[in-house]
Amino acid sequence: MSVRINPSILAADFANFERELGRIATADLVHVDIMDNHFVPNLTFGTTMTERLQQLSTIPLDVHLMIDDPDRWAPDYAELGAYSVTFHAEAARDAPALARQLRSMGARAGLALKPGTPVEPYLDLLPEFDQILVMTVEPGFGGQSFMPETMPKLRVLREAVARSGQDLWLQVDGGITEDTIVIAAEAGADTFVAGSSVFRGEPADNIAALRAAAEGH
Ligand code: DX5
Ligand code: ZN
Repeated sequence: MSVRINPSILAADFANFERELGRIATADLVHVDIMDNHFVPNLTFGTTMTERLQQLSTIPLDVHLMIDDPDRWAPDYAELGAYSVTFHAEAARDAPALARQLRSMGARAGLALKPGTPVEPYLDLLPEFDQILVMTVEPGFGGQSFMPETMPKLRVLREAVARSGQDLWLQVDGGITEDTIVIAAEAGADTFVAGSSVFRGEPADNIAALRAAAEGH
């Protein structure tokens, strides 16, 4: 199976995004964490900065909205050219309608689930989405430890995808290292977000090592 490695620029030097983007050019997409200090107790940035990242990046943007009211904001990220826009199931008023709007604007639509959010209520909605993000830490901060108890959700999703044949990416985010990526790949993930483990040391080497570990599981 082909895997995708998406470095999270949450772990990058925020004063040197242009240089940091250059260091992750061998990755598949760049993961952009948007936090509003309401949905999660942390704050990053919004559309203005993301638009600039879109201009500077040589690889597509994978936007992860950890915000209240994604119904209001998510289309703005599709508008500025994000390749994928993922919002949290817990925050959306009308998830299928929002997914349809994002797709109509040319973006991939993603649905994110916090560690405590079950997947079963959303299984009927899978055809509305292009990717499902199973959070492997509580959203809000980089550098946390991977939660293996989230893996059963991935197995359920992988089985659902096998049954339907849908081309749905299954993404994990939080605490992904050369060790935990193997656990997540074995459970069915094919798209991996990694912040600290990419930007600590030499990003190109780390991306290659993560890719090899995920592909070799
Ligand atoms: C956490 C963010 C993640 C974060 C991952 O809320 O959604 O994308 O950057 O960071 P690491 O890989 O350090 O756990
Ligand atoms: Zn994220």
